[in-house]
Amino acid sequence: MDIVRTVADLRTRVRAWRGAGETVGLVPTMGGIHDGHLALVRAACDRLDHTVATLFVNPKQFGPGEDFGSYPRDEEGDSGRLEAEGVDLLFAPPESVMYPEGYSTRVEVAGLGSILEGAFRPDFFSGVATVVAKLLLQVLPDAALFGEKDFQQLRVVQRMVLDLDVPVEIVGVPTVREPDGLALSSRNLYLSVAEREIAPALFATLSAVAEAVRAGAEPEERERWAESALLSAGFEGVDYVAVRDGVTLGPYATGQGPGRVLAAARLGKTRLIDNVAL
Ligand code: PAJ
Repeated sequence: MDIVRTVADLRTRVRAWRGAGETVGLVPTMGGIHDGHLALVRAACDRLDHTVATLFVNPKQFGPGEDFGSYPRDEEGDSGRLEAEGVDLLFAPPESVMYPEGYSTRVEVAGLGSILEGAFRPDFFSGVATVVAKLLLQVLPDAALFGEKDFQQLRVVQRMVLDLDVPVEIVGVPTVREPDGLALSSRNLYLSVAEREIAPALFATLSAVAEAVRAGAEPEERERWAESALLSAGFEGVDYVAVRDGVTLGPYATGQGPGRVLAAARLGKTRLIDNVAL
């Protein structure tokens, strides 16, 4: 696996594959590589001839007071794991390549980008949309793979690609979980031993909401139940528990297409998000 750090080197490599009629998949990451990221790599390797992964802790998607400074950074460990899983090329640009002096463009997905996570992290989705738009234009892959773990991010990226006519297929990959249900996340490293024991209650609670709503329970009543269940389990705060339409993430209409239950809750210094299908 080669590591490139400039857009010119990246394009030279990808152009050679395209010239030979081979397909290219893109897996964007911020590092802290775990089995969730590797499931995206595996899905890319299964579908496409070549897999490009990216490693870039994107400053534009962190708000003031968030964990940009302390985000796990271990390029050597991460690149070893990505290579072992079949990544052909790693793009790990410095910030000066992604956002050189004078950089001034932001991509904003209105509506979808300002609800749920967007209501608590106002610049988050425009930071994500901006960097993902750049990565898609830099690599020009046939397909890009994103985890359902960050379900709203997946929907924001799909909306952006549709709106901007970006010729790429966006593929969602199911969430990889620990045996006790906790979704794998680079931020799980921040949990203390006691917090780690409480954390699986998030998935358990969302699963209970999904099951109850499927059985006919009233969604809003179950959202309120879930908030108090999470607080009783030991979470210190619940930002939201929401039963939504699985495509627009707007209000869920019982029996009309797929639904999704999404939540964000705080455990000590760590903010966990998760979601399940209805
Ligand atoms: P990061 O958190 O590193 O995640 C990279 C990709 O891995 C995302 O598509 C995410 O949804 C997926 N992922 C994370 N945990 C997962 C799990 N447990 N199961 C399945 N997939 C999982 O998400 C980002 O980085 C950034 O916002 C990025 C898209 C790279 C833009 O900067």
